Amino acid sequence: MASRKIAVIVGSLRKESFNCKVARTLMLLAGPELDMEIVEIGKLPLYNEDDDANPPPVYTEFRDRIKGYDGVLFVTPEYNRSVPGCLKNAIDVGSRPYGHSAWSGKPAGVVTVSPGAVGGFGANHHLRQMLVFLNMPAMAQPEAYIGGVGKMFDGDTLSNDATRAFLQTFIDAYAAWVERHAD
Ligand code: FNR
Repeated sequence: MASRKIAVIVGSLRKESFNCKVARTLMLLAGPELDMEIVEIGKLPLYNEDDDANPPPVYTEFRDRIKGYDGVLFVTPEYNRSVPGCLKNAIDVGSRPYGHSAWSGKPAGVVTVSPGAVGGFGANHHLRQMLVFLNMPAMAQPEAYIGGVGKMFDGDTLSNDATRAFLQTFIDAYAAWVERHAD
């Protein structure tokens, strides 16, 4: 099986982000069939349609980079029952210019992570709504709402065995999902 290149997009810019820690745990758990790397979104200026004719170089770099991946794994917090603005901005940047979206056709995975009990359910499904429009086949099962994350890490290490086992199941299923949607 060929190794598939996966962009990991983390919807938090926070240095000690739990989402980033979960993303890195997923990268450690992934088998050799996935070659995963985090693509930073924090330096993308706010999208302005006026710039379409003359886009900032960071936009072009980001769009070209995303086009080079076989799939995209989103790991994000929930802000006010939706996705954080930085993630929405990155999605908007990658979706333009019209008709040339960098996202189209790439198999997606969605993980939401929160210290709260609901595990970012609202953000998870707002993101899934966007993925429909972006023509990104999103893995349906297993769903990943990681709640109560505040007690799950010892530094950068996931110390909750049940969650680690679940994340293993998730990333293995995502690898199969990517393979199924590979060119
Ligand atoms: C939050 N948080 C939050 N949590 C949640 O479960 N549902 C929500 O709607 C919100 N809303 C929200 C809004 C804003 C502006 C902030 C800053 C935070 C709490 C959030 O889950 C918590 O800060 C996480 O730790 C953020 O993820 P990272 O940065 O740890 O990855």
